[in-house]
Amino acid sequence: MVENKAYRSIFSPCSTQEQAANFDSYWIFSQRHAGELLEEDKDLTNKREKLNYFQNNPIRSRNPLPNPELFYRNYVKFKDDPQSIDRKTLLLTTIYKFARHEWVGISGAWDIIPSMAEAKTLTDKISRVHLAEEFCHVRFFHEMLKTFHLNKVEWLPLGPVKQKIYKIFPRLPGFLMDTPAFVTELMGMTFYQHLDKLFEEVFADEPEARQRLREILHEIMIDEMAHVGQRRNFIGPNGVRAAKLMLAPLYRAFFRDIPEAKYLFDIEKMIQDGLAFDYSSVSPSLLARSWVPSYCQV
Ligand SMILES: [Fe+2]
Ligand SMILES: [Fe+2]
Repeated sequence: MVENKAYRSIFSPCSTQEQAANFDSYWIFSQRHAGELLEEDKDLTNKREKLNYFQNNPIRSRNPLPNPELFYRNYVKFKDDPQSIDRKTLLLTTIYKFARHEWVGISGAWDIIPSMAEAKTLTDKISRVHLAEEFCHVRFFHEMLKTFHLNKVEWLPLGPVKQKIYKIFPRLPGFLMDTPAFVTELMGMTFYQHLDKLFEEVFADEPEARQRLREILHEIMIDEMAHVGQRRNFIGPNGVRAAKLMLAPLYRAFFRDIPEAKYLFDIEKMIQDGLAFDYSSVSPSLLARSWVPSYCQV
């Protein structure tokens, strides 16, 4: 077994020189890891190859869900009592709702931030590729749902108010936008760590499908843990302080919008894990394929 290295908290301080050096090293990692940007398709060559692999070697659950109609009736908005519904269906509707927020957020931002041709700075380029990776995640989530024979899933916009918030957000100046952007990446990462553990239990009777879900999730997590460090690198000491204060209310507000989540996930534990995040909770095999800021390594 590979011993996990020691890491420092994601909230560790860093100098402006360290920030500049870390953007350089992230950009080198990101190009190698994601491949070439296919801007027209909001896609990246290495991610596309991975998705093609999953699609060309499909794994499907042995059994369909107990009642797939329950999924379709509740996946966009929960209409039934979540407590009356089986855990597999609840987990899959939670995944959809989480990914849907991501999809709405990135769709709003994609039209606003500079394209690769318009990008003036290194951070503009990093942000463009970052967003393309998020679009790849939504395709990966779509494939997860298909693993459970859910072939009729549609990606629908949110209500007008939330849709508007997601459109305004990327227009905010950095000092307002960078901290919540970092905290939402951290929330994604802690959510995926809890999801990974839940797969074990909820899909215990579907070993092949569970294995495929984990394979797909790990592809997403490798990006996500790099995004956490990259977005951390945008903020200074004030941002770090604000992030710690904002973390709990932001997680709670986000999951209030996914009413079924609390029947599966321990949101308060997720908050604690977010506040304590230092990469040592991630498996070394995933870390080896990802990126960690220099000031979070011992
Ligand atoms: Fe993501
Ligand atoms: Fe991300």
